[in-house]
Amino acid sequence: MLQERLCAGFAARFGDVPALVARAPGRVNLIGEHTDYNDGFALPVAIPLETRVAFRPGGDRMLVCALDFGEDDAFDPAAVAPAPGWRAYVRGVVDQLGRAGVRVPGGALAIAGDIDRGTGLSSSASLEVALATVLLAAAGERWDPLRVALLAQRAECDFVGVRCGNLDQIASAATAAGHALLIDCRSLDLRQIAMPADVAVLIVQSGVVRGLLDGEYNLRRQQCERAARELGVAALRDADAALLAAAQGRLDPVDHRRARHVIGDSRRTLAAAAALAAGDLVATGRLMRESHVSQAEDFGITVPHTDRLAALLNAAIGEAGGARQTGGGFGGAVVALLPRHRLADVQAAVLSDYRTPAGEPPEITVAYPAAGASLIR
Ligand code: GLA
Repeated sequence: MLQERLCAGFAARFGDVPALVARAPGRVNLIGEHTDYNDGFALPVAIPLETRVAFRPGGDRMLVCALDFGEDDAFDPAAVAPAPGWRAYVRGVVDQLGRAGVRVPGGALAIAGDIDRGTGLSSSASLEVALATVLLAAAGERWDPLRVALLAQRAECDFVGVRCGNLDQIASAATAAGHALLIDCRSLDLRQIAMPADVAVLIVQSGVVRGLLDGEYNLRRQQCERAARELGVAALRDADAALLAAAQGRLDPVDHRRARHVIGDSRRTLAAAAALAAGDLVATGRLMRESHVSQAEDFGITVPHTDRLAALLNAAIGEAGGARQTGGGFGGAVVALLPRHRLADVQAAVLSDYRTPAGEPPEITVAYPAAGASLIR
């Protein structure tokens, strides 16, 4: 469907068929939140929702059509100027490719996707990674997925102005189908963890829309960096509970709580990856519940609606799995891991008991772990 919409939109706008099409998935993070920019660990899954980009080279200018918004952009790919909104993501990727020495040709480019923005599923990373994938192919270059991801991350930091970590882009570029990806955000060591066949990933939208540009995200990052400095370590990755406890009283109390979340969630991520690899959903679920509490009490990034949704899911699932708010925070989605045979009753429970701020039942996605970005034409 997405492919038809993309190609029909390309034809309507540019009167032709695209030469190249790439796709890149969104992601849902199972555990390890705000750990990436602290050099810690995260455990995302790529989801079946994605962004697709179609391209046909020709001419000096880059003509871009965002089909979902019915909006256009046009610029010189050899001298990219900043622009606001969705255009910043496109221009940022082209700019970064140029800086990396890639000769991006001009041409016609159309974008379509099925990830709603602000739902915490990384529509922006999937756009960046899909774009980089299609434009690298157009330039005749082959890059490994990690290199693509890091370029996409730089585009977001430099052109969009969110000092994001590398989790979203790596998840979108490098995850294998049917797997979760354990990322060491410092060494960039990646481990594919096979999702046990009887485990389902459920994503429930709180209906509270968030944005990373509202300042809270960059503020959390500053608090973490200050805590690391105060603890005398390069990043919170290098601190542990004992070091933090010894610094109680020296650290600002808010920074102390922020650091406690990051140190704890990084440790929980490693434990959850090991538990999942061993098929131990009970232990994985317990770690996810602890992670939610830590996000709420120490990191201060949950909101009443996601607290309620996570509590409802955890009550419905019981000890058999677990649920937590996922992504940057302040709304977005709650992710749950549960035995596949429990999907129907757990979905029925949230549909009957949870209402979004608009008073509606939540949107639910059963996310079979998808493959990272690829060229499909
Ligand atoms: C956003 C950022 C990521 C990461 C998460 C929180 O999605 O883009 O880099 O920091 O928030 O884990």
